[in-house]
Amino acid sequence: MLTINVDNKDIEVNEGALLIDVMLKNGISVPHFCYHEALGPDGNCRMCMVEIEGQKRPQIACDTIVKDGMIVRTKGEKIEKVKRGILELELINHPIDCPICDQAGECKLQEYYMEVGLYESRLDTPKVKAKKHVHLGSEVMLDQERCVLCKRCVRFTQIYTKTDDLIVEKRSDKSVISTFPGRKFENPYAGNVVDICPVGALTDRDFRFKKRVWFLSHGKGICMECSRGCNIRVGHDKAKYQDDIIYRFKPRRNDQVNGFFICDHGRYSYKKENDNRLFHPLLNGKELELQDGIDSLKGLIKKDALVIIGASLSLEEIAYIKAWANKEGIKVASLVEDYIDESFEDKLLKTKERASNINALKLLDIKNLSKDLLKECKNIILFEHDITKDLTKEEIKEKKIINFTTHAANSELFEFNFPVASTYEKRGSYINCDWILQKSEKIVQKELQPPTIIEVLSILLDEYMDEDKVWREYLNGSQTLKEINISLIRDDGYKLGVKNG
Ligand code: SF4
Ligand code: SF4
Ligand code: FES
Repeated sequence: MLTINVDNKDIEVNEGALLIDVMLKNGISVPHFCYHEALGPDGNCRMCMVEIEGQKRPQIACDTIVKDGMIVRTKGEKIEKVKRGILELELINHPIDCPICDQAGECKLQEYYMEVGLYESRLDTPKVKAKKHVHLGSEVMLDQERCVLCKRCVRFTQIYTKTDDLIVEKRSDKSVISTFPGRKFENPYAGNVVDICPVGALTDRDFRFKKRVWFLSHGKGICMECSRGCNIRVGHDKAKYQDDIIYRFKPRRNDQVNGFFICDHGRYSYKKENDNRLFHPLLNGKELELQDGIDSLKGLIKKDALVIIGASLSLEEIAYIKAWANKEGIKVASLVEDYIDESFEDKLLKTKERASNINALKLLDIKNLSKDLLKECKNIILFEHDITKDLTKEEIKEKKIINFTTHAANSELFEFNFPVASTYEKRGSYINCDWILQKSEKIVQKELQPPTIIEVLSILLDEYMDEDKVWREYLNGSQTLKEINISLIRDDGYKLGVKNG
């Protein structure tokens, strides 16, 4: 370990560390545009200047390796004047259109201006005009005038996706970000360039102008679209006269799962959460009040039924469904093959398992059912499983099916549809493809909030149960989970000591 001193504070650092990393990790403000932890230094924006004792001129922190005894200053008249000058250059051709910019509220240019800018413009020459609405491809929109040419977006396609989709076109103050002539930026990870763009040059066509970001609240969730279980920030808001609605998913950094990024499929899957929700029980197409629905359930659930458990339910839900079914003498199974999609997998994040908790089904020994056996069952209880992948509409209608579901899709096919809380309306844990146990919080509260599966089943069993009690009574007993206190699991998850269920 070495010791450096930044603004009169001694910091222990590893040999070979980058000065900017040390400063960011220690909460020391260092304005920067081109440097990004996932992409490394590029040294083109010069925004991260610091004073280093013994050096004649200010140095960029993103390209400086720490040395033992190094003394660094980020404050003081001299270095602040340098940073102000660089920011002035960055803003020479910037349109300063923050009031109509979708990035306002989470823009680094705004933040740094408030931190080290704060001067009157000294320029009276006309600004260079460029294009304002360039659709690069996917959902990515470019405003060329707002770009600070940090090249993060270009380097993302070079370093991360290795597809080289974006380039800097032309020279000097005519330079703009572009695709190769005749090509579109069609990339399954394209949305990440909007996140890493430090200013409002790249915006998301899907989100822009829908909501000012300061109205959004964000919760910590897990993507349900494949077994990677990428960590996401769920942006939602309950506006006046509206229900609580999810507006966007953003990546949440987790170095052992998804790093800084997510795929576009997962990013835009938030739409499914809002659309076509089921809020009332439906018995043969007739809407019931919740209490009447629960009373009807008691009469409709038969001992010879078969329970099918969906592969994106939480670990707590799967454990409690199994416990409830055992008490009622009902068999449980899953249909894991329905979730395998080889075409979805890639070498970055996407896996072929199109559900978030297949490993929880394995861990809790929920057996996979063959489709032939499924066809023989007359009474089926579905917990968040899309049975239309296994049976034709005619076959479904011939059976007595109770469908515990978040959404109303295909509700006309089932005898009874019972509404339950959706993923971000409950808390729960998930085991990803690498056996990392992760938590997702309750984020959204609907006006007509359907109960969680655990709440419904505990009413049927006439006992009190919640997620913590499920851990104590049904999960901590297992060899793999016995030492775990779920409330103490950190945000980046916990690697379980299992290899194969
Ligand atoms: S579009 Fe954004 S990320 Fe790309 S170079 Fe310009 S400012 Fe940087
Ligand atoms: S890789 Fe999988 S878990 Fe990650 S965002 Fe995409 S679909 Fe979701
Ligand atoms: S962040 Fe250091 S030069 Fe751009």
